[in-house]
Amino acid sequence: MSVRIRARAIGAPVDRLDGPAKVAGTARYAFEQPADRPVYLFPVQAAIATGRITGVDTSAAAAEPGVLAVFTYHNAPKLASTEDAELAILQSGQVAFRGQFVGGVVAGTLETARHAASLVQVDYQEQMHDVELRPDREDLYAPALVNAGFQTDTAQGDVDAALASSAVMVDATYTTPMQHNNPMEPHATIATWTDHGLTLYISTQGVHTLRSQVAAVLGLDLEQVRVISPHVGGGFGSKAFAHADVILAAMAALLVPGRPVKLALTRRQMFSQVGYRTPTIQRVRLGAGTDGRLTAIAHDVIEQTARIKEFAEQTAVASRMMYAAPSRRTTHRLAALDLPPNSIMRAPGEAPGMFALESAIDELAIACGLDPIEFRIRNEPQADPESGLPFSSRNLIACLREGARRFGWEQRDPTPQARHQAGWLIGTGVAASTYPVFRMPGTSATIRAGADGRYQVLIGAADIGTGTWTALTQIAADALDVAVEDIDLQIGDTALPAAVGAGASWGITCWGSAVVEAARRLRARLASQHGGAAPPGGLEVTAEMPGNPDAERFSMHAFGAQFAEVRVRADSGEVRVPRLLGVYAAGQIINPKTARSQLLGGMTWGLSMALHEHSVLDPRFGHVTNGDFAGYHIAANADVGTIEVHTLHEQDPYVNPMGSKGIGELGIVGAAAAIANATYHATGIRVRDLPITLDKLLR
Ligand code: MOS
Repeated sequence: MSVRIRARAIGAPVDRLDGPAKVAGTARYAFEQPADRPVYLFPVQAAIATGRITGVDTSAAAAEPGVLAVFTYHNAPKLASTEDAELAILQSGQVAFRGQFVGGVVAGTLETARHAASLVQVDYQEQMHDVELRPDREDLYAPALVNAGFQTDTAQGDVDAALASSAVMVDATYTTPMQHNNPMEPHATIATWTDHGLTLYISTQGVHTLRSQVAAVLGLDLEQVRVISPHVGGGFGSKAFAHADVILAAMAALLVPGRPVKLALTRRQMFSQVGYRTPTIQRVRLGAGTDGRLTAIAHDVIEQTARIKEFAEQTAVASRMMYAAPSRRTTHRLAALDLPPNSIMRAPGEAPGMFALESAIDELAIACGLDPIEFRIRNEPQADPESGLPFSSRNLIACLREGARRFGWEQRDPTPQARHQAGWLIGTGVAASTYPVFRMPGTSATIRAGADGRYQVLIGAADIGTGTWTALTQIAADALDVAVEDIDLQIGDTALPAAVGAGASWGITCWGSAVVEAARRLRARLASQHGGAAPPGGLEVTAEMPGNPDAERFSMHAFGAQFAEVRVRADSGEVRVPRLLGVYAAGQIINPKTARSQLLGGMTWGLSMALHEHSVLDPRFGHVTNGDFAGYHIAANADVGTIEVHTLHEQDPYVNPMGSKGIGELGIVGAAAAIANATYHATGIRVRDLPITLDKLLR
């Protein structure tokens, strides 16, 4: 008797299946998709921060040889829905922010379109704009909810009384700057209008989400819009939803039917068109007893939204579940400003919020005379502090302990400014990381068993560089109990079964659950009706992501511990980060190789957030002055030292059939706090205002 043993496909470090095509340059990104006789679109952008257009002269632009169409609100197609004010471009002469699209030029070459766009003469009547976020504004307001459907404010117990009577207290305000999503591949579209409708090759995190938005704005049936996006050069939130560039491209396509219209945003346009991370002003008050146990947590956030479209970042949500404390309060207040709409950016909420909380926890641990790891262990909650639900799994302490062991934490002298070496002050810091396990209905998968023993897996999922092509193939192989090589996965097309987009780190939970369900049903039918093998004509099964009753019974989050070593040059304040370590508990890791890349990338961005990224807004003009890669520095190779990623074996039978938790956003959360805490340890200077630039360390 022979027993077949196949290594589980889930958990194997499978090389990226799309790797060879990407290395060879044959993996097509949106702008490179085949287009027959393409034309090029270049936008015209508003030159004022707010006001209205009083006159437009397109004659010089239209007279340029090679120009096929010039459009402004005078002649632009009327949109069916203007409900989403960000997408309702060219419908009136109103200008809501500097850089807003007010027109477009279509020409036979990109150079002609760009030059002609510069010839469009627009006159304005300017109004006073208001773009400054300040804590003393009288018009700060509480939104109905904050992003991802969280409550705006929460409260438990008498926080003020608990703070007033606490033996040790921290009351500090932390600020994080405006930051802009800048995936390597800018937002790009090829839009073609034919008798059948609109085809969009586009760089997007979710083809079906984008289709719904575009169809609604243009007044088309879903079947009239096809969205194709097999490869995406980074997303991070900016490509989760449609932005005005897609609508501008669709409008242009309507004006030149049959001709594919190509639009790729310039890097500079990325700083006004695709969302950004709000700046935050976060007051954190923590109280503790002499035993180092938290008595109260208050986290009050002030941030901004666009006047034309509300987005309220959920900055304080992690403070609701991280630590045990009998009293707590979290609040979010918004200023509505004459700026482009802000939106989600890798770990919206947790990334800026945990910088504040984890810095404050470090400050409080020091004030209590406790090691920051020991302090966190003492304040580990037994259940979710606000909901009271048990955690499906929570291994923060294990992450902290394993990280301490790997990092050499026990050799640390807690005294600030204790270590010097050749003119550098050396410090180490730690912070916690967390990210929720989100799930969202709306995903189906089809699996076709072929008579040849191969399986086609069809799902409108996205790979934004994360490794979906590989990880979903592994999940399918595992669920079908076949080899990875026997799976043919297709994603990134609205012709495939509908799926939620890549966002909120929920991709694998939603898509994987649907694939596993389809595989389960397919195997049952193959076994009961066909003796286990596919019939000559093949067999196809489609299934939706099933509901998960455990999601109501448990609080579900991934956790991690971030460790940083920081060197600060004593005479110049220059900060270097030679070493980062992240230890994570994120359930079953589907593919350790692609998972490591995700976490490494998150930590790298955390370093970038800690030291570099800062969109500088000029309040006089309402625009970002450093809107390019010369002025907006993103951590480059030379900024990054050693980064080590380690994942714990965590079994969580409740989160989803794979037992996995999302890892796309976990790696950035807490990384900036670990670096700030290490900077304090090195220098004795507490920087509460990101980024940590050298001027803040020279006293
Ligand atoms: Mo992520 S910011 O939810 O795409």
